[in-house]
Amino acid sequence: MQHTEIKTLLQSEPSLHEVTVKGWVRSFRSNRFIAMNDGSTIHNLQCVVDFEKFEEDVLKKITVGAAIEVKGLLVESQGQGQNVEVQVTTVEILGEADPEEVKLTILSPKRHTLETLREQAHLRVRTNTFGAVMRLRSKLAFGVHEYFQKNGFFYMHSPIITGSDAEGAGEMFRVSALDPKNPPKDKDGNINYKEDFFEKETNLTVSGQLEAETYAMGLGKVYTFGPTFRAENSNTSRHLAEFWMIEPEIAFCDLDGNMDLAEDFIKYVIKYALDNCGDDIEFLENRLLEEEKNKPEAERSEMSLRNKLQFVLENNFKRVSYTEAIEILKRSKPNQKKKFKYIIEEWGADLQSEHERFLVEKHFKCPVILFDYPANIKSFYMRLNDDGKTVRAMDVLFPGIGEIVGGSQREERYDVLKKKMEDMGIPHDELYWYLDLRKFGTAVHSGFGLGFERLVQFVTGMGNIRDVIPYPRTPGNAEF
Ligand code: 4AD
Ligand code: MG
Repeated sequence: MQHTEIKTLLQSEPSLHEVTVKGWVRSFRSNRFIAMNDGSTIHNLQCVVDFEKFEEDVLKKITVGAAIEVKGLLVESQGQGQNVEVQVTTVEILGEADPEEVKLTILSPKRHTLETLREQAHLRVRTNTFGAVMRLRSKLAFGVHEYFQKNGFFYMHSPIITGSDAEGAGEMFRVSALDPKNPPKDKDGNINYKEDFFEKETNLTVSGQLEAETYAMGLGKVYTFGPTFRAENSNTSRHLAEFWMIEPEIAFCDLDGNMDLAEDFIKYVIKYALDNCGDDIEFLENRLLEEEKNKPEAERSEMSLRNKLQFVLENNFKRVSYTEAIEILKRSKPNQKKKFKYIIEEWGADLQSEHERFLVEKHFKCPVILFDYPANIKSFYMRLNDDGKTVRAMDVLFPGIGEIVGGSQREERYDVLKKKMEDMGIPHDELYWYLDLRKFGTAVHSGFGLGFERLVQFVTGMGNIRDVIPYPRTPGNAEF
């Protein structure tokens, strides 16, 4: 490369050597100070032009949003906030940006709401907030791989197109190459998928777990990290129709080992972010403090972003059985005073996010792992406990987020699994291969899924999941 990244320049000593920088203009003050950003860091590089030495024509084109190349000497900065700046000798306009048009976009230097930024998602990564979030997202992904690779796991690419519904919840996007206007029909008048591309019904995967299990039963420890899809009509700040999931699966590991792994893994990646993304986290922390100033005092959070992250690192996740949690919730004030939308009446109730958040934010005031849920509110593959009514499931609940991880010890007993599938109406012929694992050298095994965007939300402090993925897919929205 012929040019140097701004991140590198800002970390170097004034050299009086000529440097070349390329980036986008964030501001141009007094016909003299260009603030330039190239995406490598949250910080801008100050480039100082001596306007008397430059053509009026060039100066006029140094406008917000324009792409420019600057050459000059790296000198000690006279101004505050940076060690070095560039004393410009030449400016080349690489790509102009018409100020009249820029004014109408989020590139214009004034406050824009997150909703407005979402409407211009193709430009929002050029704002400080989204630059910081997306750099963090990238680093976190790398931290995820680093954790598993260091700990003896193999990265397994689970298929994206599948014929099965891993969660048994029926929330799939169909994949078909049939002509929607004139699909072939069978003799009963139903669409004949035997004539479709895969000669069967297929969908986008909701989870790579079942295939990951097959690989854990050969490679021992595996993880997937890929896109997953859910056609659930949830318009919330924590749901996407397309999200990225990390799913480790481990042979010869029970639920306790699974909980240990989830806790250790989450702490590792959070620490990785703190160690490698200090500037971006600091920026986002200040952004949150600003945002909170507009809130009533009671709604402001007690901890800064970094304190919150540090708190997770320094405290054990509280492990609580579903049964204990129900007792706590039944006795809780919001339940007694009917403040919950869904009142907890008895054992067996499915927990809503209001309950999860009560447990984490009000009662335990730390991350919580709930385990041993009622069998009938959880998926078919979870291992049945001896009580015959609970399964070895676990959910990790986080402050501000709710469920960040869902996992379980898997049912490794052929007969028990087969009966469970029959009872829950899971077609046998679709999942014969999954049952096969229980016939050929079955073993205790466990795993979990962590929603990557929910992790990014926690680490960045962003309130809406649509603001931590480049192009969110949600009901009614697949723009870009
Ligand atoms: O709890 P879930 O549905 O579990 C599974 O899919 C299992 N097969 C995982 C496993 O055991 N291998 O999803 C796991 C996590 C949730 O805890 C949540 O963090 C995230 O995936 N998640 C979503 N994130 C964003 N948008 C959605 N619609 C999500 N649904 C689940
Ligand atoms: Mg779940």
